[in-house]
Amino acid sequence: MTSSEKAYYLTTPIYYVNDAPHIGHAYTTVAGDVMTRWHRMAGEEVWFLTGTDEHGQKVLRTAEANNVEPQAWVDKLVGEAWLPVLNVIDAANDDFIRTTQARHTERVQRFLTQLKDSGHIYEGSYDGPYCVGCEEFKLPGDLIDGEGGEKLCPTHSKPVEQVSETNYFFRLSSFADALIKHYEINPQSIRPESAYNEVMSFLRSGLQDLSISRSTFDWGIPVPWDNSQVVYVWFDALLNYATAVGLGDDPGSEGAAKFAKTWPADVHLVGKDILRFHAVIWPAMLMAADLPLPKCVFAHGWLLVGGEKMSKSKLTGIKPQTIVDLVGSDAFRYYFMRAIIFGQDGSFSWEDLVARYTSELANGLGNLASRVQAMVGKYFAGSLPAAGEVTPADRALADLLTKTAAEADRAIRLFDFQSGIVAIKEFVDAVNLYVTEQEPWVVAKGEDEASQARLATILYTICESLRAISILYSPIMPKSMARLWDDIGARESGVGRSFADVAIWGQLKPGVKITKSESMFPRIEEPETI
Ligand code: ME8
Ligand code: MG
Repeated sequence: MTSSEKAYYLTTPIYYVNDAPHIGHAYTTVAGDVMTRWHRMAGEEVWFLTGTDEHGQKVLRTAEANNVEPQAWVDKLVGEAWLPVLNVIDAANDDFIRTTQARHTERVQRFLTQLKDSGHIYEGSYDGPYCVGCEEFKLPGDLIDGEGGEKLCPTHSKPVEQVSETNYFFRLSSFADALIKHYEINPQSIRPESAYNEVMSFLRSGLQDLSISRSTFDWGIPVPWDNSQVVYVWFDALLNYATAVGLGDDPGSEGAAKFAKTWPADVHLVGKDILRFHAVIWPAMLMAADLPLPKCVFAHGWLLVGGEKMSKSKLTGIKPQTIVDLVGSDAFRYYFMRAIIFGQDGSFSWEDLVARYTSELANGLGNLASRVQAMVGKYFAGSLPAAGEVTPADRALADLLTKTAAEADRAIRLFDFQSGIVAIKEFVDAVNLYVTEQEPWVVAKGEDEASQARLATILYTICESLRAISILYSPIMPKSMARLWDDIGARESGVGRSFADVAIWGQLKPGVKITKSESMFPRIEEPETI
């Protein structure tokens, strides 16, 4: 791989800092982290961006309600909640962008000036409904009727506000045909298919120009040619994906090199609530600037509470830390990727979390590892024995591993995290079945040489299987799989951790130390209070 090769570039939304993160935000970030770790494991160069969206009325009003200046409010929330949550969920992002950073605001202003100079922006007046929760101008057809006859935002179930002001407009309508054409040629660039269909029918119904500035408050990036206006928060926020990697920097600069290396993004990972911004407004902005479009926008479903979207504004959020305190960050990551079909809505439940943790992680994988570690300890003084003659049962596991690796790779690259994990889990189940059928504790009773050789082969086969599992599961459960890797003697064997070699059988070196340390997934009781 040469350093000039394009990196795999994945982004999460930048989240509003009107409040602290809940598991909905962690869900998107974990999915992005699993995907980028998967690509890194395959030896690809990766750039993984996340961050915070700090301007706009929603954030301003929360700051005001708390009697602090907006900058002080966002600094505090980012420092105390949004950055720490990345450690809580063990995300390995390469960068974290805040829209109040100069690297962002300066590039946004430059971009806007360019768009104005090339005729894509004009002055006009806007009169229509606006939802502060979505920070979005609504079409009358988007709204639902409230009890008192008022019009409500369907996402926030709150009344919209009437906005009427003179501001700057982006000629969004002129890009409808080009967008339709682009998506007809590249149907894979909006996923899943339901998201593609939604965007196409929205585009076919025609686009209106977009008001991209506001004059009634000043918490935002000043419009460079008119300081009485600030940039509309979505126009500001969408640009983060490009400003973070050097948008518009001078040729020869560091920023320009970074941009060449990362842009276009391979995936913008978003929740379905913000699909249109990403699949309609954002590519139109890029087209206006003659920049390449992202290769894919993937819109996942919602975590629901009582059938409704978990949200900060409805105060239905569960803190990631609450779940991590119970089961750890690895099981947190495993659970959400395993239990919910990515792209569909899903309900979180403590019962389901505890049940899967217990059966799949504690009993399934944890128990397998501790049993074999204990047996190598007992029968071979903790030193990995060499395998002897191989039987069909041993070979079957090696063959299944090859299939498992291919299937997990196929599914995960398609964002089908659930199928990818199930493939690996079925391999774990097969190894557990192998242990049951081979009965190493019975074989151990035979004192003849053949029995001892067979015992060695069985235990070697299980350890080899665990070596592979500790690689395949590492993007999903980085901490415990790093430990398993050590405990199973893979580090001492000096073997590679790359996906490319995972299915090559027989890499562990006989004689390495097999360690029995604390249980990876200790048993838990479902807390009575929740
Ligand atoms: O929309 N289930 O920020 P936001 C699943 N700042 N995912 C959820 C979720 C839930 N219940 N709740 C939130 C914004 N999310 C803008 C984005 S991007 C240029 C600007 C996740 O704080 C999901 O990814 O409202 C959703 O799209 C995002 O958080 C919205 O976060
Ligand atoms: Mg939101």
